[in-house]
Amino acid sequence: MSVRHFLTLRDLSVAELHDVIDLSIKMKAAHYAGRDEQVMAGKVLAMIFEKASTRTRVSFEAGMAQLGGHAIFLSPNDTQLGRGEPVEDSARVISRMVDVVMIRTFGHDQIVRFAENSKVPVINGLTDDYHPCQLLADIQTFIEHRGSIKGKTVAWVGDGNNVCQSWINAAMLFDFRLNIACPKGYEPSSALLAEAGDRVRLTHSPAEAVKGAHLVTTDVYASMGQEQEEEVRLKHFSDYQVNHGLLSHAADDVIFLHCLPAHRDEEVSAALLEDDAISKVWDEAENRLHVQKALMVFLMRESQ
Ligand code: CP
Ligand code: NVA
Repeated sequence: MSVRHFLTLRDLSVAELHDVIDLSIKMKAAHYAGRDEQVMAGKVLAMIFEKASTRTRVSFEAGMAQLGGHAIFLSPNDTQLGRGEPVEDSARVISRMVDVVMIRTFGHDQIVRFAENSKVPVINGLTDDYHPCQLLADIQTFIEHRGSIKGKTVAWVGDGNNVCQSWINAAMLFDFRLNIACPKGYEPSSALLAEAGDRVRLTHSPAEAVKGAHLVTTDVYASMGQEQEEEVRLKHFSDYQVNHGLLSHAADDVIFLHCLPAHRDEEVSAALLEDDAISKVWDEAENRLHVQKALMVFLMRESQ
């Protein structure tokens, strides 16, 4: 059996994605009941972070500990990765010593090259192009609050970034409509949009995107690595704030999600972020823990 990786959502079939989310919901209940199974006893996760993180690091590390395993935090500053050891060599060495690897990096090609040389599953913890673990948590959150997402309408308001591109993949796999509203010049990959076909619609009008939406989501204007563009992006995105006024165009039972960290009163109003009747961002963040535990169990089982 070959090694299974999770570099984008499309590495798993639709049935497998549903299996992971179902398992996550079961593991969440077990965790709440104080009955985490020690299925990772003796197993080690290596976490390579080339960018900052709160949720991804804490959820993977806590998740591994809860299942009886261990997680190692590696940063380029204090490994040979930061001194130019090729990613292929690092992959061959690290994957002989651990059971699963999670990587947060810049270029998506880096994680692809690592996975090509890894003997164990590699999980994308965010690249410049995709953030698939986030989408697992987001879909689980919608299912828990509103049921199946199939056939629903989701609106993305903001930058056509890594999280947006994972939403495009999710629209194809989970079969929902995705309306994307972004300023001119901040569109997601045109090749990816072409693959998604008419399931995904692009507009420059947030109100149009949000019309009838059952889920509205956004992200920061400037992602990690784009800090120098912050000022100019603040201007270009000034009409793209998600707030109660914008959500008046959405479905009555709309929920709001944000991968976090959020910049209050920039991409989302503080009032909406704190409106627990609509904003499910804290459940969304917590679900990173549960769904990544399920994902690791799935990938390691399927790679044996
Ligand atoms: N949403 C997310 O991935 O958060 P962190 O950057 O804190 O890991
Ligand atoms: N788009 C953001 C997501 C952070 C979780 C970034 O890449 O910085």
